[in-house]
Formats: sequence, C-alpha cells, structure tokens
Amino acid sequence: MILVTGGAGFIGSNFIHNWFSHSEEPIITIDKLTYAGNLGNLENLKGKSNFKFVKADISNKEIIKKLLKDEKPRAVINFAAESHVDRSILSPRPFFETNVMGTLDFLDSCKEYWEEMLESERKEFVFLHISTDEVYGSLKKAEDSFVEENKLKPNSPYAASKASSDHIVRSYYKTYNFPSIISNCSNNFGPFQYPEKLIPLTILNLILGKKVPVYGDGKQIRDWLYVTDHCLALELILEKGKAGQVYNVGANNERENIDVIKTICNKLEKILPSKSNGGYAKQIEFIEDRLGHDQRYSIDSQKIQNELGWKSQTSFNLGLEQTINWYIKNSEWLKNITDTDYKEWILKQYS
Ligand code: NAD
Ligand code: TYD
Repeated sequence: MILVTGGAGFIGSNFIHNWFSHSEEPIITIDKLTYAGNLGNLENLKGKSNFKFVKADISNKEIIKKLLKDEKPRAVINFAAESHVDRSILSPRPFFETNVMGTLDFLDSCKEYWEEMLESERKEFVFLHISTDEVYGSLKKAEDSFVEENKLKPNSPYAASKASSDHIVRSYYKTYNFPSIISNCSNNFGPFQYPEKLIPLTILNLILGKKVPVYGDGKQIRDWLYVTDHCLALELILEKGKAGQVYNVGANNERENIDVIKTICNKLEKILPSKSNGGYAKQIEFIEDRLGHDQRYSIDSQKIQNELGWKSQTSFNLGLEQTINWYIKNSEWLKNITDTDYKEWILKQYS
C-alpha cells in the first residue's frame, strides 16, 4: 500500500493511473479538492477494491495520523500543493499555507507514523516529496542546466513556497534521519492538466476560437516533460532512490513559449482544421508580461539516468499530439471544469 497526496490533481492522478496499469498494489489518496482537484480525474477507478480516496487537507493531523495507522502504507508520495505561478502572484498566502505549513504538518504526521513502525518496516519506508525546477531560479540562455547541487534561488511566491518545503523535507532527513527523498522536475504536460497552465490553456482557447495569451515576447524557455515519463521516474525513485537524496527529472525539451504555441497551432490544424481564414496562429495575442517572469528553466537529469537508469521515453512531438488528442476526446471533462469558477479565474487573470 502506498499513500499519495494530491491524487485528484494533474500529476497525482496520472501517477495513480500509470501505477494501476502495471501493479495491483493498493493506493490510498488524500486530496483537499481545491479548485485544481477533480474527482473526474479518477472517475474510472470508482469501485476498484485496491483504490481508496479520502477528502482531507494534508495539514489535518488527526485525519492523517489515523489514516496512516489504519492503512499502514510502505511509502508516501507528496504531490499536494498549490501549483500555479500566476495565482501565487495574485494571492500568495494559500501557497505558504499548503506548500510550507501543510508540508510541515504532513511531515510531522508521517514522522510519527514512521517512528512507531516495526524496525523491519522502518527500513523500507520512503517519503517522496515532489518539487519543481522553479526552486533553482532562472537561467540565462547560455548558462548550464540545473543540477541537484545548485543553490535554491526561487523568484515567484510559488517557487519560494516550494523551496521552503524542500528545505523542511531536507531538515527532517538531516535532523531525524527521516527517510525522505526530493524530486525536482521540469514543466509537465499531458492529460488531466487543469487548463490554467500554458499547454492545456492554449489547446482549449484554440478549440473555442478564443485568443491565446502570450506573456511578454514569448521567448521565455521551459523544459517540457511528458507526465507519464515523470510518473515512471517517480516509481523508479520509490524503488531504488536513496534517502536524503535529491533527483532532478527532465527530458531535454527546451522550447520558447511562442514555439510551443505555434507547434500546437500546427498540430491542431492537422487534427481539427481551423474554421477561420489564416488558421489557428491568428488567435495568438501578445499581452503584458508576468511579474518577475523567469526567463529559462533547464534540467540536467544525468543523476537519475546514471544512478537509477531512468530515461524519458516520449518525444515532445508525440507527447504533444497525445495531449491534443486527449483534450479533443475529453470535451466533457473540460466542460465540467470550465463550467465552474474557472471562468472567474480567466476573467481575473486576462482582462
Ligand atoms: P495540481 O494543482 O494539478 O494538483 C494539486 C492537487 O493537490 C490538487 O488535487 C489539490 O486539490 C491538492 N491539494 C492542494 N492543497 C492541498 C492540501 N492542503 N491538502 C490536500 N490536497 C491539496 O498540481 P500538479 O501539477 O499535479 O502538481 C503536483 C505537484 O508537482 C506539486 O507539488 C507541484 O508543485 C509539483 N510540480 C508540478 C509541475 C507541473 O508542471 N505541473 C512541475 C514541477 C513540479
Ligand atoms: P505555466 O504553464 O504557468 O508554467 P510555469 O509558470 O510554472 O512555468 O507557464 C509556462 C510558460 O508559459 C511561462 O513562461 C508563462 C507562459 N504563459 C503564457 O505566456 N501565457 C499564459 O497564459 C500562461 C498560463 C503561461
């Protein structure tokens, strides 16, 4: 049995689907179901005897401790977080509540559980904390990719809250020997991603005939990782990773935002030809830049490749085609999201 937090979010739900594609080991997931948490992401697992969903905040020590005692997971993966940079710029507080204090409370609950385990079980226990490359700050074009030894130099409130959580997790290993591991990955994309992030927002707006907002000159660079490749990396870390270590996960797919958007336009044109003259590219609109916008992220993932044998399997092009097709096929899933307070967010952010 493993315990997964944030399982109703984008990466957490992909992790669970991927896990059950080859394993019958039970998963229990807890999720607060914020705006980003969606039970529709776990719809096809309803009634599955080796899967359980519990609505809870990672800060709720009473619920978490009871759950750990009853369910006895051999490992914990912590995906739960506030995850969108733009929201952290408009309203930082929830990011520090969940990503910092929530992580601290959750670690305390897990540490207490670990301390009470039998010696043989304690040796096997792992706490895997999911973090981001954004904690390392921003790179200039010619600078070397982020390695695990880089200093943390977060720029956005989101990145600062995640960097804080990484420090807390590290301190629990150093101080209490609590067997934690941190993974820092680059921008993920794929099915089930909430359409506030660049790739799903672009696909959705193109399909709906809306403008696609590009911040600034669109020349900022992100290093894209297909979500299934990330999930496979996390499984390897759970299996073979060493306590106290940090692993960077990235697939060497650095792209300027404007190139990503143009590539989506071209691919969509082939799958679902645009009805307007000039094609989808006409919908691109340059808007005011994001405050403190990081210029470039780039991950060096030599360590996980050399030490654990991980390698990304999905090319950027194939991953993007799969993603576009998934969003086209899952219009009902999208509608369920866009019919909620999603509209308010779009108005607040883009008008
Ligand atoms: P997401 O926003 O899609 O999902 C987060 C999930 O956490 C949601 O289901 C939400 O309901 C839940 N949650 C939020 N606060 C909670 C709380 N207090 N208690 C319990 N559940 C809570 O995020 P994601 O994109 O799936 O990201 C998952 C993790 O991966 C995050 O820690 C994020 O920082 C990290 N990460 C994401 C990316 C990316 O590109 N998406 C890249 C690097 C790292
Ligand atoms: P995003 O998906 O929010 O991820 P992150 O900020 O965590 O990297 O944004 C990816 C890039 O796309 C980032 O440089 C900001 C840019 N972007 C836009 O240009 N327009 C948008 O509407 C959004 C959401 C992002």
